[in-house]
Amino acid sequence: MMKIFSLLFVIYLTSINIQSSNAEIDCTIYDNDLDAVNMNPFYVERSQASYPRTSALYDYTLKVTELSIVDDANPSSSIFCVKNLQKLQLINTNLTILPDIKNFQQLTSLLIQTDNGIIDQHLPSEFGQLRSLSDLTLSNIKNLEDLPNEIEHLIDLTSLTLQNMPNFNKIPDESIGKLIYLNRLNLIDLPNLSNIPSTMNNFQLLQQLEITKTNINNLSLDNLMSLYGLKISFNSILKTVQITNMLKLYSIDIRNNNELLTLKLQNLSSLQSLSIPSNTKLISLDMENLSAISTISITDSAQLKSIILKSFSKLNTFELYSLSNLELVSFENTPVLSTVTIKTSPQLKTISFVDVPSITNLDLSGCQLTTFPESILTLKSLGKLVMTSNQLSTLPLTLSTDLPNLRILNLVNNKLQGNIFQPPLVYVRELYLSNNSLTSIDGIGKHKSLQRLELDYNQISSIPLEIMKLSPTLTRMTITYNPLNHIPFSMTNMRSLNTFYAAYNNISLNERAYIRNLFQKPPMNVNFN
Ligand SMILES: *[C@@H]1O[C@H](CO)[C@@H](O)[C@H](O)[C@H]1NC(C)=O
Ligand SMILES: *[C@@H]1O[C@H](CO)[C@@H](O)[C@H](O)[C@H]1NC(C)=O
Ligand SMILES: *[C@@H]1O[C@H](CO)[C@@H](O)[C@H](O)[C@H]1NC(C)=O
Ligand SMILES: *[C@@H]1O[C@H](CO)[C@@H](O)[C@H](O)[C@H]1NC(C)=O
Ligand SMILES: *[C@@H]1O[C@H](CO)[C@@H](O)[C@H](O)[C@H]1NC(C)=O
Ligand SMILES: *[C@@H]1O[C@H](CO)[C@@H](O)[C@H](O)[C@H]1NC(C)=O
Ligand SMILES: *[C@@H]1O[C@H](CO)[C@@H](O)[C@H](O)[C@H]1NC(C)=O
Repeated sequence: MMKIFSLLFVIYLTSINIQSSNAEIDCTIYDNDLDAVNMNPFYVERSQASYPRTSALYDYTLKVTELSIVDDANPSSSIFCVKNLQKLQLINTNLTILPDIKNFQQLTSLLIQTDNGIIDQHLPSEFGQLRSLSDLTLSNIKNLEDLPNEIEHLIDLTSLTLQNMPNFNKIPDESIGKLIYLNRLNLIDLPNLSNIPSTMNNFQLLQQLEITKTNINNLSLDNLMSLYGLKISFNSILKTVQITNMLKLYSIDIRNNNELLTLKLQNLSSLQSLSIPSNTKLISLDMENLSAISTISITDSAQLKSIILKSFSKLNTFELYSLSNLELVSFENTPVLSTVTIKTSPQLKTISFVDVPSITNLDLSGCQLTTFPESILTLKSLGKLVMTSNQLSTLPLTLSTDLPNLRILNLVNNKLQGNIFQPPLVYVRELYLSNNSLTSIDGIGKHKSLQRLELDYNQISSIPLEIMKLSPTLTRMTITYNPLNHIPFSMTNMRSLNTFYAAYNNISLNERAYIRNLFQKPPMNVNFN
């Protein structure tokens, strides 16, 4: 009762053309559409509204098909008599929406933006009589709380945007579910809206969906067969999102949902682009059967603890940088995945690979791993493994036999101790072991494919003579900052070696002078200092 009363009160105050409170506007007093437009107390330009300004489009019969009122405060309610309108824009004007809106039987496009609080909490039920409406935008409407149930009759509606309405809290589920031709739905800046329609699945023609700055706390979207673009952002209490079984979904943008904890994406076979930055609390990311995605890169999700990927038939490159809480990454059935980079994720404990037959490059630098992840040994095609700046103190004994394609192994800055690896890495060509605590390289001669060997900053006190076994292959060796007392003189005959640095060791001045002289003969770049 209070609501009806206040509605009537507003009508009474603002409508000089209404004879009695309940009555319809008498449109017979206007000779034609233009006559009704002209009743406004402001100038209405004749034009096509190419940019928003107060204007009307009419033909020689004075039939007005488009009308825009922009920044003019007090439109006349005679506007409701412009019955041939196809397009109406009311921008920053104080026009109450009267039941007479039903006169607009031709209206296909309606935009109401910035009403200065003049529109009531509820739209009149006659709103549902806009049978031709295909495009509706309601934006910056202060008091509106819901849409009337009668919107179910707007069956031609293809685009609906509800935006910036602080009190909007309800979309009638059943009614909106009847709008099966909806193509675009935007729910933007509706801080009091706490659920999206449960009848979403009726929108089988929906192509674009945006849900931004709402009050929803979970979102589960399944089986929207035409959905192409999806944006979900700045929903301040949204905790879980699950998106499944969308055959056409091409791009997903999920960002800045500050409370989002879990994100699940499954069976999105057309998804090409996935962007999920700045969801500051995201803990778990679970993705399955995203069969068109070729690259995933995640940088900005500090709380992310777990990432699970399953059945990515085109995934080629996967990159993570600086996920400071990441504990688990799991890959399963990623047949063409070739490059995986997970850098500077100091909490990483588990990395698991199942059916990942094509990896050639794996970079796990800066992850503080104390043990070598066993499942790396299943990556038969691995050619380059970089694990610099971890805490490894040993390598698995089967490394060489399990990884027959490994050519480059970089373990700079770990805690490797004692002797160099045995059994030897017979296939490895480049071995980078600087900044460890190795004390000996006995057995080096058996690492028979070595071309480059870096051993700077270790505790190695001698180079065994068997280094000569590497003569055919070794082209570069550095062993600076070690406590070497001596360098085998015969190394001068390592005929492939073109760079040899051994500065900052503990070689006496005399011997240094001697070997400098000795190594002057071969065409070798040397430094013994
Ligand atoms: C339009 O509405 C606003 C907000 O209620 C009000 O401040 C302004 O005076 C109104 N304009 C007119 C011309 O009534
Ligand atoms: C949201 O709706 C509730 C009632 O459902 C109301 O108490 C509250 O004031 C509304 N919040 C805003 C921001 O309008
Ligand atoms: C999702 O949110 C709705 C509305 O807040 C709530 O009724 C429902 O229980 C929630 N479901 C889950 C699984 O959290
Ligand atoms: C992946 O999605 C495709 C297409 O939707 C489907 O045919 C296939 O069975 C799904 N595979 C898995 C493992 O779910
Ligand atoms: C993904 O698709 C497969 C095959 O169509 C189906 O068996 C599975 O249940 C789907 N997954 C989800 C989460 O709906
Ligand atoms: C190796 O250790 C030295 C001395 O601690 C340090 O200056 C250098 O940055 C380290 N190099 C790498 C690649 O970690
Ligand atoms: C350097 O060599 C000298 C003599 O060979 C030896 O006494 C000394 O302990 C060595 N210093 C280090 C740091 O190994």
